[in-house]
Amino acid sequence: MDAPLLDIRGLSKSFGGLHVTRQVSLQLHAGERLGLIGPNGAGKTTLINLITGFLEPSEGRVWLSGQDISPLAQDQRVRLGLVRTFQITQLAPRLPIGLQVALAIHQRQGSVRKMWLPIGRYPQVRDEAMHILDALGLSRLAEQPPLALAYGQQRLVEIALAMALNPRVLLLDEPMAGVPTAERQTVLQALDSLPRELAILMIEHDMDLVFHFAHRMVVLAEGAVLAQGSPEIIRQHAAVRTAYLGEVD
Ligand SMILES: Nc1ncnc2c1ncn2[C@@H]1O[C@H](COP(=O)(O)OP(=O)(O)O)[C@@H](O)[C@H]1O
Ligand SMILES: [Mg+2]
Repeated sequence: MDAPLLDIRGLSKSFGGLHVTRQVSLQLHAGERLGLIGPNGAGKTTLINLITGFLEPSEGRVWLSGQDISPLAQDQRVRLGLVRTFQITQLAPRLPIGLQVALAIHQRQGSVRKMWLPIGRYPQVRDEAMHILDALGLSRLAEQPPLALAYGQQRLVEIALAMALNPRVLLLDEPMAGVPTAERQTVLQALDSLPRELAILMIEHDMDLVFHFAHRMVVLAEGAVLAQGSPEIIRQHAAVRTAYLGEVD
């Protein structure tokens, strides 16, 4: 197989005496969909925080495309194509979503200071923003603020903002969290339509979604990798069923 795009080697994190992440190693290849599951408090979000540089690991390193990015700040990692979304919505509630995506593109291009000019002065940025929204089924809502949208659509706007940063690796922290049943299908279709070549790590509690989405799964329990493998293998894995799916055979 090709060299991994994202290569996480022996990441550990302690808060005081609490070992939240224990020697986690995993790889993500271009075009791969990796599902990360585990009980509440297993350390999934913390792992994303370590990968993105929001938290500094106690031990271990993160490599992207053969480069050790461990010393880099969050924004530098974003510029290299390592982009996340959040478990809890981070949108500006009253700003039209097309404008928010355009702002994210300007941020990527380092042209935010020019933003006092009307957005229409940047047709390329506007076109790119519309293209990103269109791919997620949101283009007709471009003039609407998040407050006017259904919650599932708001979650997709967060993915649109991430896409505006031109990711090569996308880290999704529970994209389905809080989405009502009636909207799940729309979110699922949008996730399925993300560019093939993108590498995606998805944390998700919705087992139907993550088993449908992932090519490969990693199970975290008490901060450590309990198991990894194909969705079929994980579904049958005895320790996973006991520790996580809560079943006793
Ligand atoms: N900044 C922090 N300080 C202390 N403990 C933390 C901090 N962040 C997370 N934790 C603890 O780490 C554990 C894992 O949390 P988290 O990564 O959010 O789990 P998950 O996303 O799998 O539900 C939890 O016990 C949580 O309380
Ligand atoms: Mg979490």
